[in-house]
Amino acid sequence: MGHLFIDACFGKPVPRTPIWLMRQAGRYMEEYRAIRKRHDFWTVCRTPELACEVTMQPVEKLGIDAAILFSDILVVLPPMGCDVAFSPGPTIASPVRDAAAVDAMVRPDAKRDLGYVLDAIGAIRGALGDRIPLIGFGGAPLTLAAYMVEGGGSKNFLHLKGLLYEDRALARRLLDLLVDVQAEFLCAQVEAGAQAIQIFDTWGGLLSRELYRDLVLERVATLVERVKHPGVPVIYFARDAAHLLDLLPSTGADVISVDDKLPLDRVAEILGPGPSIQGNMDSALLFGSPGSVTAAAERILGEVPEGTGHVFNLGHGVLPKTPVENVVHLVKEVGRLSSKEGSR
Ligand code: CP3
Repeated sequence: MGHLFIDACFGKPVPRTPIWLMRQAGRYMEEYRAIRKRHDFWTVCRTPELACEVTMQPVEKLGIDAAILFSDILVVLPPMGCDVAFSPGPTIASPVRDAAAVDAMVRPDAKRDLGYVLDAIGAIRGALGDRIPLIGFGGAPLTLAAYMVEGGGSKNFLHLKGLLYEDRALARRLLDLLVDVQAEFLCAQVEAGAQAIQIFDTWGGLLSRELYRDLVLERVATLVERVKHPGVPVIYFARDAAHLLDLLPSTGADVISVDDKLPLDRVAEILGPGPSIQGNMDSALLFGSPGSVTAAAERILGEVPEGTGHVFNLGHGVLPKTPVENVVHLVKEVGRLSSKEGSR
């Protein structure tokens, strides 16, 4: 039996639009907060039984069409030599800002250093059975570099941009290393049982077209190429990247995941035939009334041209304090409104 989500990723016809949500597990859920009262974030990530339990929470509560491994894009940093603390935003103790720091980086061995992620994938596949597929994930090279170089989140990313502008050769070296690290890690996730892979480029849209084209595009394409396995779709999420959209089909990703800045008919027109689209409801709408959630779902579903693959999602993640009943309502409504037997 095929899965709705996988079929939609490959642009095959589906009886209704599948839905899952970035950050579907997290602080907005009381079940997650209960786990976090007893264990810190790193412990949850590093204990396969806990990661499995937290991954399953939204599966049981929401009835979504795909599960996403509970982990973080920054798990590769400690084995590379960059310790990360979460409080809750990430802080990297010794940011990577010069050639000596880049050259000191260690290449992790996925099985040895990130075996807990691979074990979590095995446990989750066991818990899911054949119900819905499991998405594995990692950070895109630029987004990982952004955290490494800044030492955490940032408003202006002056350290990252300084490196990209002042020493492009060094920037290339760091990004190339991250392509290798992620290719190995994401392939290991597929071998461990991940049935789709999402590459998060949260900070991709930070760059001008010129810089994105020169430093990022080709590297994302290489990563996608190396991660592809038959039947396993690769999703590329580029946030704030409306100015880059026409470049993204050449990443080779099966699905381009977009934020809420452009309507999906416009996104489809710019991307052209080829990739499926994932997105793109504003996470803030989930703080409103059930009526406006329904209206937004209906609008977004109506924007996708006939014949274009679509996976319903948010433009970014579910925010802390989101009323959980609105999330449940959204999942139900997307199912109802998109069913071929439905009202449309
Ligand atoms: O449900 C899921 O989506 C799977 C789990 C997941 C987490 N992080 C758990 C998490 C996923 C897919 C991520 C990806 C991730 N991590 C991204 C890319 C997506 C995005 O949000 O843009 C980024 C940039 C990170 C780095 C990161 N980790 C940040 C910036 C933060 C702090 C912000 C916040 O939401 O608090 C984290 C911590 C983190 N990762 C939490 C969760 C549930 C909160 C930690 C806590 O429980 O206190």
